[in-house]
Amino acid sequence: MIEYRKARLADVEEMLELVQFFADKGLMLPRSRHALYEGIREYQVARVGAKLAGIGALRVLWRDLAEIRTLATAAAYQKQGIGRRLVQLLLAEADEMDCNSVFTLTYQTRFFEKMGFHRVEKESLPQKVWQECINCVKFPNCDEIALVYPARET
Ligand SMILES: CC(C)(COP(=O)(O)OP(=O)(O)OC[C@H]1O[C@@H](n2cnc3c(N)ncnc32)[C@H](O)[C@@H]1OP(=O)(O)O)[C@@H](O)C(=O)NCCC(=O)NCCS
Repeated sequence: MIEYRKARLADVEEMLELVQFFADKGLMLPRSRHALYEGIREYQVARVGAKLAGIGALRVLWRDLAEIRTLATAAAYQKQGIGRRLVQLLLAEADEMDCNSVFTLTYQTRFFEKMGFHRVEKESLPQKVWQECINCVKFPNCDEIALVYPARET
């Protein structure tokens, strides 16, 4: 059975391993242990028994602007709906906060399109998005693709 819940401090070592696994393959950006502890409240996790199966985070950047980031399903658990469920949980969190604009920067465009996101020009995102990019190893040559989730009808 897959358990979905907010991350706990005891998850951090496994989260670090999971992120590093995909970061080494160039699929996602690395995260330091400190960044994971600092941002722990942003994460949802999926656990299968004693094993961490997936993670994903929602970072609020500004009024009505949040990013889904650091989404990963462990290789052994992919294609079982975990990524989808994590995205749904993160979108629900955004919704609860009345945040109507959720975006992601990713290489997994097909996956996010299946989740209802659509591609946009990176330059169309608010400037606030780029504040953190200066600390990224890829700055200023970002090759990630921007996708946004459609705002709900109000
Ligand atoms: C992207 C990722 C999180 C998807 O997780 P997952 O748990 O395998 O995804 P799901 O099983 O929920 O898939 C949901 C749907 O997307 C599809 N899908 C999953 N990964 C896909 C991919 N890489 N490309 C295209 N479609 C994909 C599934 O087939 C499924 O489609 P269906 O509803 O038609 O059956 C996972 O492949 C991953 O961790 N990749 C490495 C890390 C990474 O690149 N993260 C993104 C950084 S933001």
